[in-house]
Amino acid sequence: MLRRVSDDAGAAAVNAINHQFRLAARPVGLPKRTDWNYTEEPVRRPNDGEVLVKAQYLSLDPAMRGWMNEGKSYIAPVQIGEVMRAGGLGEVVESRHAAFKAGDLVYGTLGVQEYATLDGKALTKLDQRIAPLPVYLGALGMPGMTAYFGLLDIGKPQPGQTVVVSGAAGAVGSVVGQIAKIKGCRAVGLAGGKEKCDFLQELGFDAAIDYKAGDVKKALRQHCPNGVDVYFDNVGGEILDIVLTQLARKARIVICGAISQYNSTSGVQGPANYLSLLVNRASMTGMVVFDYADRYAEAAREMAGWIAAGKLKTREDIVEGLQTFPETLLKLFKGENVGKLVLKV
Ligand SMILES: NC(=O)c1ccc[n+]([C@@H]2O[C@H](COP(=O)([O-])OP(=O)(O)OC[C@H]3O[C@@H](n4cnc5c(N)ncnc54)[C@H](OP(=O)(O)O)[C@@H]3O)[C@@H](O)[C@H]2O)c1
Repeated sequence: MLRRVSDDAGAAAVNAINHQFRLAARPVGLPKRTDWNYTEEPVRRPNDGEVLVKAQYLSLDPAMRGWMNEGKSYIAPVQIGEVMRAGGLGEVVESRHAAFKAGDLVYGTLGVQEYATLDGKALTKLDQRIAPLPVYLGALGMPGMTAYFGLLDIGKPQPGQTVVVSGAAGAVGSVVGQIAKIKGCRAVGLAGGKEKCDFLQELGFDAAIDYKAGDVKKALRQHCPNGVDVYFDNVGGEILDIVLTQLARKARIVICGAISQYNSTSGVQGPANYLSLLVNRASMTGMVVFDYADRYAEAAREMAGWIAAGKLKTREDIVEGLQTFPETLLKLFKGENVGKLVLKV
């Protein structure tokens, strides 16, 4: 049965204006304000099967930089003129889909805008009793799933082994290190700056290396005396190359991301030390979280249990104001976020 609910709220929304960020140009290097158009249009009320959602929190992710580029990737690029793609959480204002009613809290690809009218099939209901809403964009959302499946399915850490993660104070990295600890491993994190390294100690990492402060190779030797069994790579570039020199035999490298390369205007820096894979009978495997979509619920249940038990700590870095989107996104590339970067609409 299709329900048309909350006609009052729907009627209010029909008069509302939807503000949006649309891609104006393909960036060269770091995205600039002029790469975006801030536009407005009337809110579109839902057709049969659709749901109108008012956005509350949007997920800002390094991957957004890749979606702004032309060319083949694991997902289609955002086209010039389109609303920028973004995952988000919001409240249902009006529903013409049987599974949703006004007031429901949902996750979906809302886009960088105040309102989204989407097929109900593309939305997931959220339960605020399990965790506060923004956690569903971090540890219980896409970054948490990336950490869980990347580490456990590809990294395959064994108790007593050493897991190194870069971008360790960020959304994915902070969860990787904590899951490594839960699984009985030694967790070593690489992050930029003292504040982030202190945060890693608070999370229970065994060691934190400030890659901006000193000799990373020397620090890895010191903190990983038996070599690196699992390297969860979020940054690529020079750090990947250095970690390659410290592998243990049969090490697994999880290629999750390469944020140091996303804004490069001179091509991607490849790993010169890759023969270490041969010498150490090691492997390097890429992963895309969307491949695990049919197992998210299973992972989210286990992660929610760890959060409830105090074994997994979550942190969100929340910036307010849709208008700030172009500058707030840059925090990811300048290393200014601690934990999951979220835009409060
Ligand atoms: N494969 C997948 O399915 C998948 C899914 C989600 C995310 N990812 C990838 O996972 C990685 C982490 O994503 P996230 O959402 O958790 O972001 P995040 O770590 O919360 O934020 C990005 C962090 O990257 C670090 N960084 C920025 N520029 C850097 C550079 N030049 N060199 C070294 N570090 C740099 C900064 O931390 P510091 O201050 O420590 O430098 C920054 O805070 C990204 O590469 C992302 O693309 C992949």
